[in-house]
Amino acid sequence: MKGVILAGGLGKRLEPLTRITNKHLLPVYDKPMIYYPIETLVDAGIKDILIVTGGNHAGEFLHLLGNGREFGLKHINYTYQKGEGGIAEALGLAEHFADNDKIVVILGDNIIESSIKKYADDFLKQPKGAKILLKEVDDPERFGVAEVKGNKILNIIEKPKKPKSKYAVTGIYMFDSRVFDIIKALKPSDRGELEITDVNNDYISIGEMTFDVLDGYWTDCGTHESLLNAGNLIAKLAYSG
Ligand code: G1P
Repeated sequence: MKGVILAGGLGKRLEPLTRITNKHLLPVYDKPMIYYPIETLVDAGIKDILIVTGGNHAGEFLHLLGNGREFGLKHINYTYQKGEGGIAEALGLAEHFADNDKIVVILGDNIIESSIKKYADDFLKQPKGAKILLKEVDDPERFGVAEVKGNKILNIIEKPKKPKSKYAVTGIYMFDSRVFDIIKALKPSDRGELEITDVNNDYISIGEMTFDVLDGYWTDCGTHESLLNAGNLIAKLAYSG
């Protein structure tokens, strides 16, 4: 299985920090943000990694990461997303890299405490379809929210005003190679982007979506508040360990 890290976008909610660098290169406690999703993939046994970046500071990823020796990698693949076409559009750029293999996708600003190895191993055994990881949160309206019944997901609504559950859809997704056909058929949402939630709802509608609930903390870093929170979580763990 291969790994794709989505690290594009202009990070507008983090202005002025993102005027002179890419959001995913900002510090989260003692490391640049992008280190965390790379470590999450490497820990899950995924060594073939593509970073999709974009914006005005994309070249800095090469300076920082090179071929990934620091992570025990031999090579890192990079590609470039022009403009702000959304998460699903960015993922579409990974088709050639995926080359019909299954993929684990992680948003470059998602930081988690625990390992995803067991979920990735389960997905490898899943004959087809997709798997997402959920997390109970107090502010689900900030995220994609899953309506769950027993061990089934009924649907996902992107940033609902009245969430039907507390289960946020984290930015960790596992897909079979059909994901690229789904992306090609997507229409832009009201905000003009190809939405990952539409991709996931497609898998749900054909009964091919499984899910797990993530252990430990999960945070994104898209706003000043969540970026600070992420740094504090990492620091707390560092001091307690
Ligand atoms: C994106 C997804 C959302 C998901 C979130 C996780 O939101 O659209 O469904 O819950 O990532 O971080 P964004 O951060 O682009 O607002």
